[in-house]
Amino acid sequence: MSVIDLADFGAGFTADPHPYYARLRDAGPVHEVRAPDTGRFWLIVGHEEARAALADPRLSKSPATVGWTMLDEQVIGPNLLVLDPPDHTRLRKLVAREFTMRRVERLAPRVREITDGLLDAMVPAGRGDLVDSLAFPLPITVICELLGVPSADRDAFRAWSGEIVAPSGAQAEADAVYALSAYLDELIEDKRCAAPTGDLLSALLRTRAEDDDRLSAAELRALAYLLLVAGHETTVNLIANAVRALLTHPEQLKLLRDDSGLLDGAIEETLRYEGPVENATVRFSAEPVDCGGTVIPAGETVLVGLAAAGRDPARFPGPDRFDITRDTRGHLAFGHGLHFCLGAPLARLEARTALRALLERCPRLALDAPTDPGDWIPGLLIRGVRRLPVRW
Ligand code: HEM
Repeated sequence: MSVIDLADFGAGFTADPHPYYARLRDAGPVHEVRAPDTGRFWLIVGHEEARAALADPRLSKSPATVGWTMLDEQVIGPNLLVLDPPDHTRLRKLVAREFTMRRVERLAPRVREITDGLLDAMVPAGRGDLVDSLAFPLPITVICELLGVPSADRDAFRAWSGEIVAPSGAQAEADAVYALSAYLDELIEDKRCAAPTGDLLSALLRTRAEDDDRLSAAELRALAYLLLVAGHETTVNLIANAVRALLTHPEQLKLLRDDSGLLDGAIEETLRYEGPVENATVRFSAEPVDCGGTVIPAGETVLVGLAAAGRDPARFPGPDRFDITRDTRGHLAFGHGLHFCLGAPLARLEARTALRALLERCPRLALDAPTDPGDWIPGLLIRGVRRLPVRW
């Protein structure tokens, strides 16, 4: 089988990768591909194979498997997404103690309050960019408040984390990683010296397991980094992708306006149809792995296609149809297995709150301009638009 060069797909691939993934899927569930900034890797595009791969211990998350280290791992510390058991198990247990469903549920009134404030500022204008006025500031404010990041520092954060998930160049990415690392050191030091407050970072700083295990300085820094970047770059696109999908499918929007009980269905369908994470974070084959009849050799880099899996007709009939009443169970938008997204309850809470309030406050919400193909975020990780012009 020859290596497929994703650059040959052209600019259309960033604006709408789904027809390309469909063609690959028709030819088989896994392909050896090459991309301009990532080099050669294996891309899994079938749903069944993707689900199995996400839970396969032979596909390691540790770059050391292939003799690599990631820049952020080197500079900031080992985060959950570059660790395998038992290190991953230990760290995840320590976070899970603090990042509980109860903590997330307690945030609901504050999420509503932030949403209302953003809509109060947005609504009088009559038109504007939904990303700028709601989809971006809501999750950023929530994650920064949750972790205890001062509001004055949030613009710097936005720039650093944007550079890390969709780098404009190697040097700019490295600068952002170093700047973020130094900032987190200072923030953690301030919290260490101050009296404990209710924020998650203060709690993580002081958390101890029954056996007295606790997070090292590098682990805490890496965890704060992961939570902040994940909190900045994902939910914004869930909110914007949901609004965009509804506004381009008026019959689905009408269904939702007529029956608000369909709200959770609309969010889950957005996750399946246009989820914010296009491909899961990188994995490495520790030994040869048979994937739907194709053997991925040992020592290879593997990406699991979450967007491609969501459109697999073998799992979701008529996959290119956006249908908020469909059975979306089994979508992989939050991953699967040991690395299943820790922030899923928070992301769902924010999306539900934002959509409900937006539809209530803006009964005539509509797209103000068709999406420019150049507005789609480049790269293989994040699926979303940088701006969404709407009027109401
Ligand atoms: C709609 C929004 C979100 C989506 C679609 C999403 C998606 C994902 C996916 C696909 C993974 C697994 C990656 C892999 O296996 O390679 C993941 C992991 C993770 N996510 Fe999210 N995420 C979202 C929001 C958030 C938020 C808001 C937070 C934090 C507050 C968060 C924190 C994390 C963490 C810490 C992990 C690593 C878990 C581990 O390795 O054990 N995510 N997320």
